[in-house]
Amino acid sequence: MTQQVGSITDRQAVVLDLTVEHSEQAQSEAAGRTADDAAFRADVLAGLARTPKSIPSQYLYDTIGAKLFERITEQPEYYPTRTEIDLLREHAASIAAAIGPHATIVEPGSGAGEKVEILLRALDRPRGMVPVDIAREQLRSVARTLSSRHPGLKIAPLWADFTQPIELPPAIAELHPRLVFFPGSTIGNFMPDMQRRLLRSLAELAGQDGALLIGFDRIKDETILIPAYDDPAGVTREFELNILTRMNRELDAKFDLSKFRYEARWNAGDARIEMYLVATEAHQVMVAGELIEFAQGEAIWNESSHKYDDARIDGLAASAGLTVDRSWSDERGWFTLALLRHKT
Ligand code: AVI
Repeated sequence: MTQQVGSITDRQAVVLDLTVEHSEQAQSEAAGRTADDAAFRADVLAGLARTPKSIPSQYLYDTIGAKLFERITEQPEYYPTRTEIDLLREHAASIAAAIGPHATIVEPGSGAGEKVEILLRALDRPRGMVPVDIAREQLRSVARTLSSRHPGLKIAPLWADFTQPIELPPAIAELHPRLVFFPGSTIGNFMPDMQRRLLRSLAELAGQDGALLIGFDRIKDETILIPAYDDPAGVTREFELNILTRMNRELDAKFDLSKFRYEARWNAGDARIEMYLVATEAHQVMVAGELIEFAQGEAIWNESSHKYDDARIDGLAASAGLTVDRSWSDERGWFTLALLRHKT
């Protein structure tokens, strides 16, 4: 079984101008939105035509989805965010020393920007910061906070889909060395082939003299993993079901949410949590003008979250021409931050 993770959009990346609210960028931003809408429709219809049915997981993160994900990270059972932040805080000095002085950070999928703040405070005279995200308003607000806290830092917020090759703005491209910061084990949300491709493109972004600091959630007992991805408060369930609400709103779909239940499964062979919306009865749904059939028990595969051990991290790094220079793990061995560099 394969789940495809498609691109969000084929539009060009846009460097946001923080000095104006409604700038001349409005036109290109609007063009971007139209491209997003078309890509969403095409990706959803392609995904629902597959067996098993699937939807690229990036689409879970609309404005509501991004807020629900923030709430997931606050659930006591969802350990990755807390564990990684503690790890960053505890080892900030040694991570900063391993990265070295004058770094420019590029953070694909920068989100709320909390983790990079820890890094920026620890780094020796960092030069620049490029948050990259598809959530435009959050990106704008993170960039504003960064520039008020770090007045000497060159900040270039890039409104872009990081699964597509990213071209850095010229003022940033000339700054070396670069560190690509990709925390959260977001790499694990992609299928193995895409993980390799993404890592190769991030390695290119870092440049030959640059490095990558990547967060990897580690393989652990199912009794820890399942509640983390199916929390008793039902926030993850709400987050996964939100994709149906989004399709109803944006694609004129007619999903009845009460006809789906949420299920998180641990696939030990492929070392991943798989997240599904399972039809509780046979029914048909109109989606973007097409009739989609669901058998009873048929699932939409919404998302995967791969987990790692050292061998898997080494193998993935090697497949992108990289090697693990240093790594930091917590005492329980639940999470690893790995500093990757090009093989010499
Ligand atoms: C964003 N990503 C790293 C989360 C994870 O842990 O795989 C996504 C998530 N989906 C449901 N819970 C968390």
